[in-house]
This record gives sequence, C-alpha cells and structure tokens, in this order.
Amino acid sequence: MNSDSDLQIAGDILEVPHLLQPVREHPSTVAEFAGLARAVAADPGQWRHLVRYDATTRWYHRLRTGPGYELWLLSWVPGQGSGLHDHGRSSGVLTMLDGALTEHTRRGTHTLTAGAQRAFPPGYVHGVVNDSLEPAVSLHVYYPALTEMPVHSTRCAGGGKTVVAGQDGSVRA
Ligand SMILES: [Fe+2]
Repeated sequence: MNSDSDLQIAGDILEVPHLLQPVREHPSTVAEFAGLARAVAADPGQWRHLVRYDATTRWYHRLRTGPGYELWLLSWVPGQGSGLHDHGRSSGVLTMLDGALTEHTRRGTHTLTAGAQRAFPPGYVHGVVNDSLEPAVSLHVYYPALTEMPVHSTRCAGGGKTVVAGQDGSVRA
C-alpha cells in the first residue's frame, strides 16, 4: 500500500474502458510519424524487396498512404542528390534505412546513417546527396501529402521555382 497517495486502484483497471486511450489506427503527431517510420525501418520485409537503383534518374516508390499522409521509399546511388528544395506546406520525417546521405541546410551539414531521423516543418529547406561510395535507401513521411517541392538556388536565400512532386523524381527528398 502506498501511504503517500490517497488514490488507489480497486479491482481490474482494464475493466474501466473509459480510462484507456483508444489505439489510433493512423499517426497524427510528429512523434507518431517518426514512430511509424521506425517501425517500417525495423521490418525490412516491408520494403527491401521493393528497392531499385537507377543510375539514370532518382528512383522512388510510394510505399503507403493514410489519411493525409504518405510514405515514400527512395534510393540514391553514389552521386545522386535532390538539389536544394523545400516541401511546400508538408511536414516530413526522413529516416535512413541503408547507407549514408549528407544533408545540407543553411545551418550546416549533417551525415545521416542507417537509423537516423530528421523531422522537419513546412518550408524547411535542405538538399540531400549521396556522396558516399555505396547506394543508400531512405524513407520519407510527408504530412500532408507532398504536392510541391519548390527548388531553391544555392545562391538565393528564399523563393525559388515551384515544381510538382511526382513529375520529376530528381528533386524528391
Ligand atoms: Fe526534402
């Protein structure tokens, strides 16, 4: 008995359903999207057989969709990169599945290796490139689903040309 508290649980707590949080079918918070991505990363049976590498163009595959969000699988052969871009009104979580990528932002450069995650808000500007000697695979959650990826000049602090995601795989990241 805990004498420091007046609250005690009497009986079986699982018989009090109104006290339990229902398990949500779909994620809706950054932490839940990151958790979903980690769960996919930990289960290569969901994605490894789908991965293709294409030296002529960036390869990507829509792995899953849910209410207002999408998961994309991307591969990067050495030398392939996204260029500097943002993600319009979408937030995102980038999760490394295999290999290593380098992310360039205005605040610095980050090396992302398997298991690393980067969560970013709408308007976040970065460029991602595989400057290693091995192919890389990454998983990208976008919420809401990605509809545009404005390209940014490396010399320009803001603005940029807007391109529609999905029509040009060379910029998806
Ligand atoms: Fe990106």
